[in-house]
Amino acid sequence: MSSASPGKAANGRFQVVCPILRESMVKKICILPGDGIGPEITAQAVRVLEALGLGLEMETALLGGAAVDATGDPYPEATRQLASQADAVLLGAVGGPKWDTLPREQRPERGLLGIRKHLNLFANLRPAVLYPELANASTLKPEIVSGLDILIVRELTGDIYFGQPRGIENRNGERFGFNTMHYTESEIRRIGRVAFEAARRRNRKVCSVDKMNVLETTQLWRDVMNELAPEYPDVTLSHMLVDNAAMQLVRAPRQFDVMVTGNMFGDILSDEASMLTGSIGMLPSASLDENGKGLYEPSHGSAPDIAGQDVANPLATILSAAMMLRYTFGMEDAACRVENAVKKVLAKGLRTGDIFEPGMTRVGTEQMGDAVLAVLG
Ligand code: IPM
Ligand code: MG
Repeated sequence: MSSASPGKAANGRFQVVCPILRESMVKKICILPGDGIGPEITAQAVRVLEALGLGLEMETALLGGAAVDATGDPYPEATRQLASQADAVLLGAVGGPKWDTLPREQRPERGLLGIRKHLNLFANLRPAVLYPELANASTLKPEIVSGLDILIVRELTGDIYFGQPRGIENRNGERFGFNTMHYTESEIRRIGRVAFEAARRRNRKVCSVDKMNVLETTQLWRDVMNELAPEYPDVTLSHMLVDNAAMQLVRAPRQFDVMVTGNMFGDILSDEASMLTGSIGMLPSASLDENGKGLYEPSHGSAPDIAGQDVANPLATILSAAMMLRYTFGMEDAACRVENAVKKVLAKGLRTGDIFEPGMTRVGTEQMGDAVLAVLG
């Protein structure tokens, strides 16, 4: 994180603000609606960003299945250019059954992995926060999850996701599938620093998750985390094996503050952590490079089964836009305006189907956007 200057947010959360971006005159956002519910939910986040009157410049491009249909490439050149010129990217979601049988390099997920790698977005921050209004939405007992506030820091550009060699080949008369898990110590160190810095602005605890009892890659992971720890004497570092971590997340999730882990374990644990809150439709995420540029997207997927019906929850995308204002643009006040507006609509009892409870008012995607705009302040 050498060139980034970590700032302290008013609410005590971690933030990385790139001074160059903060001072640049025009702030450019690349909007990638993607597939499934992506276009509907990003439309609401764009409305909110426009209503803030911050003079943000927004331009839309194709990613994922929508890009495959139009160009044959899930991360086409025009999108690459727009994304690399922009200060930040707001993404809806990619993927759907329509594209699942295409050759692997044309699948929507390749577009997402492609943009992460191309923009060097190595630090994925996935908060799992329980909104008091939604305590009943969790499948866990309220006494287990009330007050839950975990930040998963997932390494996003390495590990078995990108390791070579990989493939499916014929060997000795049968098919043979293989992938390669690897990390360099510098990759581990830079994500470790993000986690320690984040913990400094929270409850000063980092739990590093690995599988060092079996995998050498993650022995190195543990060694490097231990080597970093003395630089952060104010933060308590602990280690946990990934299978135990998966269990502890549902047994006693409030023991965690910041969890840091590799790409694949982070993929799995962040879905698990999000469901503790009962409402994956509420959770934003940020994927940052070393300079504060970021891609912001809801933690949930493209939900093709409900696409185009105006029933999807746009709040995770709206909250992702708030993360963008905070982390990339250093606009803490604007970020808080958006987050407070979301809290207000929840307090008013407005709910999309995914978080609906009897006695609440059921609203659609656009109505939820209207409601956030109405209380934006
Ligand atoms: C995520 C998703 C992606 C991942 C898929 C869509 C490639 O599950 O962002 O967690 O595995 O990283
Ligand atoms: Mg995932």
